[in-house]
Amino acid sequence: MAKEYKELQVSSRLLLGPGPSNVHPRVLKAMATPVIGHLDPEFLHIMNETMELLRWLFRTKNQLTIPMSGTGSLGMETCFVNTLEAGDAALICVNGVFGQRMVDNAQRCGARVDTVSAPWGEPIDPGRVEKALAQKDYKLLAVVHAETSTGVLQPLEDLSRMARERGTLFLVDTVTSLGGCPLEVDGTGIDICYSGTQKCLSIPPSLAPVTFNEKAAAAIGGRKAKVQSWYQDLSMIASYWGKERVYHHTAPISSIYALREGLRIIHEEGLEARIERHRTNAAAFWAGVEALGLKLQVREEFRAPSLTTVRIPGGIDDAAVRKALLMEHNIEVGGGLGDLKGKVWRVGLMGENSHANSVFLLLAALGGILNRMGFACSPGEALEEAGKVYQN
Ligand SMILES: Cc1ncc(COP(=O)(O)O)c(C=O)c1O
Repeated sequence: MAKEYKELQVSSRLLLGPGPSNVHPRVLKAMATPVIGHLDPEFLHIMNETMELLRWLFRTKNQLTIPMSGTGSLGMETCFVNTLEAGDAALICVNGVFGQRMVDNAQRCGARVDTVSAPWGEPIDPGRVEKALAQKDYKLLAVVHAETSTGVLQPLEDLSRMARERGTLFLVDTVTSLGGCPLEVDGTGIDICYSGTQKCLSIPPSLAPVTFNEKAAAAIGGRKAKVQSWYQDLSMIASYWGKERVYHHTAPISSIYALREGLRIIHEEGLEARIERHRTNAAAFWAGVEALGLKLQVREEFRAPSLTTVRIPGGIDDAAVRKALLMEHNIEVGGGLGDLKGKVWRVGLMGENSHANSVFLLLAALGGILNRMGFACSPGEALEEAGKVYQN
């Protein structure tokens, strides 16, 4: 008998892990819009509006602000392959998985890479970066704004100033911060920046917004060798997104519809209001978690509002708790990565999911499961403490 393939069906999950976050229904609806040609004048208008909205979100005037066709990792790779050539010196800050991934990217470009590291859960010490920058002429300094493996939000101002003083390009990963944490590309002096759609933007994983200022574009223009990746060569892609509209690859039309709609939703809410919403819901969650008797991995002043790492109490089975949350409550949270594997849960309150309902549901479900597994705690008290944050 021929095998039968049933219609696609998935459970309705509340995605409170490190990404993706739940997608706004308006974005899903936009994705069902009929596909038109990628050089159709109507689509060119959609592209222009999308670039305008991206500039607004990144807080930049950079002309070269476009979505790359791929996930956040492609955004990372685009920034490195276009900027670095064999033999270039790069200084990369590493305090988690995504800093390490940057090192791998830069090394694959043939760059000579040095690192400044910090323990996982701690921010990078700008003093150590300053010392390293004084020792060598670096082309690039790179750092992750919100390290999704640890939940640290890295202050950027000092690093940016140091890079600027030495004529070093400053590159920032904002995959887990854009649209959920304060970010000023021009105001902070960031030369190169990339992000992703699946986290605080509540758009399916599909595109990687990137922005390059004139200093970065000039550095790319001055390359000795061609960019080794044909697909990510910005000199060609910029001609498609720019005035010339020269075909490079067929744009992922439906994903760009999704991005435009997701950005439109953020624009309607207002960036300040959205960032404040992320801050308040994170604060309520932190208060509730601590009332459960759990500890947070990151000191409050360096905690990302979009991603929280909660230490797993001794004697509690990490995977069993996450499985119970998923199977009994339809809630996804993430496990630890790298140095923090088995030590923390990673909770994302991003985009659509940065909401009081998410906070209360997760605290109640987690408290109930922990009690059952032998960790005595009071979910009622946790809800009360979280509630106080909203009252204030
Ligand atoms: C900080 C950071 N950078 C880069 C990435 C890579 O993004 P993607 O998984 O969408 O390729 C992620 C994904 O979690 C991330 O959190």
